[in-house]
Amino acid sequence: MRFLERMSVAIIPVIVIEHAHDAVPLARALAAGGLTTLEVTLRTPAALEAIGLIAEQVPQVQVGAGTVLGPDDVRNAWRAGARFAFAPGLARETVNAARDNGLEFIPGVMTPSEITAALALDCRMLKFFPAGPAGGPPMLKAFASPFAAARFCPTGGIGVAQLADYLALPNVFAVGGSWMIPPALLEARDWPAIESLAAQAVRLARAAPSDTLASPAVSGNPFSGPRR
Ligand code: 3PG
Repeated sequence: MRFLERMSVAIIPVIVIEHAHDAVPLARALAAGGLTTLEVTLRTPAALEAIGLIAEQVPQVQVGAGTVLGPDDVRNAWRAGARFAFAPGLARETVNAARDNGLEFIPGVMTPSEITAALALDCRMLKFFPAGPAGGPPMLKAFASPFAAARFCPTGGIGVAQLADYLALPNVFAVGGSWMIPPALLEARDWPAIESLAAQAVRLARAAPSDTLASPAVSGNPFSGPRR
């Protein structure tokens, strides 16, 4: 089953982790708050080990990799235990490497030309990055008509104040962000506070005007094209 189909809440915490030994308690805190689909960005030396530890020790979550910039990142993420991956941008060789490895892959786009290029590669689940600076909900709304097949996970500059506006859009399949893991709380290993921010995000998502996951927008098979 594909990872999106297993998401109970349309929110993906974006994790930047400095110490691999924080991975398991962090993942458990997010899961206790109700967020069980986690992205660990490949931005720190600890990231791959963190993915491996979460995959091994926190079975209640599904863990993926973020900041996947090329085929090597795809292979490393897969070997570490990631079963989906997000990228900030779009590159054909990365899309192909993800298909070769059986990794669900969500490339990043920001413009109509990039969406066109992604659709030409049969990628329909896209990260809209950086969502805030790139135009936010009005921009995604404008993409809906010309790019009816595309579904987006806006990420970048999103907090609790913007969540409902994004989730109300039928072409949004999930919202990504790091707001529920403030660096100071992670540094302090304040797991109860992170759990409560996760729970707040879940409450807000459930109260959002549209249940994105139940929306016809994501019915059928919205993921990238066939494996090669
Ligand atoms: C990402 O890594 O996808 C985003 O930069 C996360 O953005 P945020 O930290 O602004 O939520």
